Amino acid sequence: MHRYLVINGPNLNALGRRDPAIYGHRTLEDLVAMIQKVAAELGCSAECRQSNHEGEIIDWIQASAAAFDGIVLNPGAYSHYSYAIRDAVADCPLPVIEVHLSNIHAREAFRNRSVIAPVAVGQIAGLGFEGYGLALRYLESYLSKA
Ligand code: DQA
Repeated sequence: MHRYLVINGPNLNALGRRDPAIYGHRTLEDLVAMIQKVAAELGCSAECRQSNHEGEIIDWIQASAAAFDGIVLNPGAYSHYSYAIRDAVADCPLPVIEVHLSNIHAREAFRNRSVIAPVAVGQIAGLGFEGYGLALRYLESYLSKA
């Protein structure tokens, strides 16, 4: 059974009240419940964490290889400028899938670029909560081919 670490970055704890026209009305708890449901269907485990702190996210990525088989990462706004998280992902031996709830390519110019994307296995953007489930599904297939 594969074990995945799902990391949600800054401000994603505010899901539900934050900019609902973009992020919807469901909360982080709703997202975690959906991820757990998909993980149960897939027969894998998903540990969900959220942090507003860049260094904490980096610590989690650095320690991940000892306890997990893959990472689903929504770095929030750090996606657009955190070379420190990018370096941690680049150094991480696990496959990392970058996920965004919104379509960052259809929003403000500063969101159009992710500095994480070039070092991730791939990116899912704009598919809302479903993107996390698709990322887990993909990791299962990716690891079965490894
Ligand atoms: C986000 C997109 C980022 O630009 C934004 O800063 C977020 C959420 C998303 O999931 O769509 O916090 O990562």
